[in-house]
Amino acid sequence: MKNRVTLLDKSFKPFISNEQIEAAIDAVAQRINADFAGCTDVPVLLCVLNGSIIFTGELMKRLDFNCELISMKLSSYQGTESTGKVRQVMGMTGDVRGKRVIIVEDIVDTGHTIEDLVHIVRERGASEVRICTMLLKPEVYKKDIPLDYVAMEIPNDFIVGFGLDYDELGRNFKDIYVLDPEPDYHVEDKSIQTMKYYILFGPPGAGKGTQAAAMAEKYHLCHLSTGELLRKEIADGTALGLQAKALIDKGELVPDEVVEGMIENKFQSTQGVEGFLLDGFPRTTAQAKALDQMLAKRNECVTSVVSIMIPDEMIKERIRHRAAIEGRADDASDETINNRIKTYHEKTEPLVDFYQKAGKYAEIDGTGTIEEVRTQVFALLDTF
Ligand code: AP5
Ligand code: MG
Repeated sequence: MKNRVTLLDKSFKPFISNEQIEAAIDAVAQRINADFAGCTDVPVLLCVLNGSIIFTGELMKRLDFNCELISMKLSSYQGTESTGKVRQVMGMTGDVRGKRVIIVEDIVDTGHTIEDLVHIVRERGASEVRICTMLLKPEVYKKDIPLDYVAMEIPNDFIVGFGLDYDELGRNFKDIYVLDPEPDYHVEDKSIQTMKYYILFGPPGAGKGTQAAAMAEKYHLCHLSTGELLRKEIADGTALGLQAKALIDKGELVPDEVVEGMIENKFQSTQGVEGFLLDGFPRTTAQAKALDQMLAKRNECVTSVVSIMIPDEMIKERIRHRAAIEGRADDASDETINNRIKTYHEKTEPLVDFYQKAGKYAEIDGTGTIEEVRTQVFALLDTF
């Protein structure tokens, strides 16, 4: 789900995710299937264009009894305000005489539209009229007409997505967004609107640090390496550095709250970048969840994980090679290197599944030359 969407002069923030919408449609379809189980007639679904077109499609494919589909178009909106007057724009595309009709609406608010629809369908001779709506605004619904099937109830806010529009835009969003009347930034401030949060993921020695500089430069990102931040604390001889050194030298992770605090401070103190490149963070599921919470507070979310993968044997080769050049304390002994690899597999690798499930994981083969890996990384980032 995007952090924020802008349509014409308005800004919208995340409201209902596609997963929540799908679950609500599953539940409402189940109720309709139960009510129509074993029916010998062929009920008609009346799709009210354009808004309910996506909901009708999703609902219909979940129904397990024979049914017909017809549509009609009404319009009662201009901009974000309900005019209270319903206009019949396009006639019904099929005959409902003597048939049971389920009117399928995307949203019911005051109920003016649904009242007119029920009237029209009855006039055309339907034997029964039921109403199924994806969304209901109970605070403003003024009519006595019973709404048979309601997938979700929402407050009286203006929303877009999953078929719902703002001046014909936004219908294609798979999630639903709500109007943000007081966005905490100027709509045209591109630096915040398009803020990216990339996670540079991979085992020790995969080449995260090697690729990070070029990525940060090309995409105007602030490179944050928790390993480098910790090594600076050690070099400065701070209390935190002292605590971290003992753990890093053994190939263990430092406590989650230490790195989470460092990252949050950097988010707060860094201005004028188009995003962040998080190298070596998060490294545990707890850190990943803490990151999600940090970003949610800023109305942001992780853009993508860029994972550079190499096999364990190559990790050892590369780190031994680096040890001779850079002299990093945690590269010095095979025991520490092996423990870092073990810690990676036990504590960090589960994040692959975590971000795959979130649909945010992209993996790159890190075994090629530095230039080959860079080409793949840039090709991936160019897609965002
Ligand atoms: P950190 O500094 O992040 O170490 P790491 O994850 O183990 O990763 P490295 O920095 O060793 O590898 P890299 O992927 O950056 O590889 P590089 O580009 O240097 O963390 C250190 C420690 O801090 C951790 O062990 C932990 O204790 C603590 N810590 C950090 N973050 C933490 C967190 N979130 N939670 C808890 N604890 C945390 O490349 C390696 C070498 O290979 C280089 O010599 C490079 O020149 C070479 N190379 C790179 N790519 C190629 C290529 N394609 N072909 C040939 N050679 C290559
Ligand atoms: Mg590194």
